[in-house]
Amino acid sequence: MNITFIGCGQVGGPLADHLQRLGHTVTLAARDPGSASVQQALARNARLVVTAPREAVRAADVVFLATPFQANATALAEVVSELRGKTLVDCTNPVGPGLTHALNNAQSGSEVVQRLVPEAHVIKAFTIYGFENFEDNAYPDYDVKPAMLFCGGDSAAKLTVGELIRQLGWEPVDVGGLEQALHLEHMTLLWVRMVRVNGASPHLVWAALTRS
Ligand SMILES: NC(=O)c1ccc[n+]([C@@H]2O[C@H](COP(=O)([O-])OP(=O)(O)OC[C@H]3O[C@@H](n4cnc5c(N)ncnc54)[C@H](OP(=O)(O)O)[C@@H]3O)[C@@H](O)[C@H]2O)c1
Repeated sequence: MNITFIGCGQVGGPLADHLQRLGHTVTLAARDPGSASVQQALARNARLVVTAPREAVRAADVVFLATPFQANATALAEVVSELRGKTLVDCTNPVGPGLTHALNNAQSGSEVVQRLVPEAHVIKAFTIYGFENFEDNAYPDYDVKPAMLFCGGDSAAKLTVGELIRQLGWEPVDVGGLEQALHLEHMTLLWVRMVRVNGASPHLVWAALTRS
């Protein structure tokens, strides 16, 4: 699969690396190929391709958005038409001052993203944990896969993203349509407060257990 990353920092960098090693063609959509995040991603994996944003998104089957939330509008403006009909994995979180929801809990960041690119299929995923778990999601003391909750409105796009989640070693848990993104964003804030404020382990993740 051709996968393009808009943003390759703490979140995008490890995900791009792992997906390339799984056999995908992974491209970094770089507004500045010399930027620190692009150079660090290349130092980690020289097989990542670097191209200009429009070209990178045009060539993609799936695009990951892993930019600071406040940069989303600028980052997406250049590639709106290239994203038409494509799956956009929204990895971003609207985090406000004091670890609050930056949109006042009234709407999710992913719904804002969807309005920026109305013809793309936005799926929220890879948001509910810190980057440490995208670097390494092995939890050897447990015989259960860590859960990755995701949501979005397009079922074909969700199948594709669910498969990528599975390839990356997570148990994909489809929690519903994009209206569920607000609740995933609150899960993020819960995790961030537990770990970054209250001192829980950054390698804390959730598992989904179902009794049949
Ligand atoms: N860090 C975490 O633990 C974590 C976990 C889950 C989700 N998230 C969410 O994931 C997103 C990325 O977080 P991060 O920690 O990976 O951030 P980061 O390390 O600061 O990386 C941000 C990336 O976005 C790029 N970028 C910034 N402004 C841009 C623009 N206007 N156009 C295109 N690219 C732009 C940066 O490129 P340059 O190097 O060129 O500036 C960099 O590659 C955020 O929304 C965050 O809330 C973070």
